[in-house]
Amino acid sequence: MHGTASSAPKIEIRGVAKQYHSARTVQALSKVDLTIADGEFVCLLGPSGCGKSTILRMLARLHKPSDGEIIINTAGGRVTPTAMVFQDYAVFPWKTIEQNVRFGLEMAGVPMPEANERTHRWLKKMGLSDFAKNYPPTLSGGMQQRVSIARALATEPEILLMDEPFAALDAQHRRIMQEELLQLWQEDRRTVVFVTHSIEEAILLGDRIVVMSARPGRIMAEFNVPFARPRSPEIRTDPHFAQLEQEIWNMLRDEVERAYGEGGHK
Ligand SMILES: Nc1ncnc2c1ncn2[C@@H]1O[C@H](COP(=O)(O)OP(=O)(O)OP(=O)(O)O)[C@@H](O)[C@H]1O
Ligand SMILES: [Mg+2]
Repeated sequence: MHGTASSAPKIEIRGVAKQYHSARTVQALSKVDLTIADGEFVCLLGPSGCGKSTILRMLARLHKPSDGEIIINTAGGRVTPTAMVFQDYAVFPWKTIEQNVRFGLEMAGVPMPEANERTHRWLKKMGLSDFAKNYPPTLSGGMQQRVSIARALATEPEILLMDEPFAALDAQHRRIMQEELLQLWQEDRRTVVFVTHSIEEAILLGDRIVVMSARPGRIMAEFNVPFARPRSPEIRTDPHFAQLEQEIWNMLRDEVERAYGEGGHK
């Protein structure tokens, strides 16, 4: 199982700050320190514009920190240890579902026979086999997000980065996808960094919840989620669930108001 082999943390974010220099300079993150263990599911919560996506982009090596460092302890031998799932699915509309999933594997340099085998395995696992030859625009948002998750997981990333992956879905689909992800993750427990605006989603899925301040983002508090694994969605009805939700909201509320008070973050 993941998480037992080594004691070195999977991710170490040390004193990381980030400024963007566009028309004006934006201090997105102030000093962030965060250590994530191998096999841990960490949720990032924070008001709009506090730098959550910025953290994921730096973990994916798409952006560099302006200050500080990010250390990822990989098992080695991979082009990239991370895979990302975005809010807007980011699937290619001109490729079929099957081609979309295989594309991730091609980018990761997986040889063809294995890429085909893994593509079909993941299509099956995500309930997409019947849609293999379809194009994404013919599918619902929930199904498109399944494609995006299949594409990411088929590469067997050491670290899965998810940026509000269910935010664009309607409430019922969101719930179904949360429950599916919970189950999928509990099968192999890879390291996940998951950004969400939903406290409920964070408690349902996460081992640990990191609460960030309004911009410039920094870490205000961390909460360990006390529910045992494997977890079932029924924990939503546990009184401790509501209690934790309230506790986190009390912390987040002022920051969300502060972010709105600034007229949003744009
Ligand atoms: N490429 C960029 N150039 C300039 N500013 C940027 C860039 N990317 C992000 N920012 C700014 O940096 C800040 C943090 O952005 P980021 O997208 O990380 O926030 P976030 O916490 O993910 O917000 P949201 O919850 O709205 O997704 C914001 O003020 C944003 O406008
Ligand atoms: Mg974001």
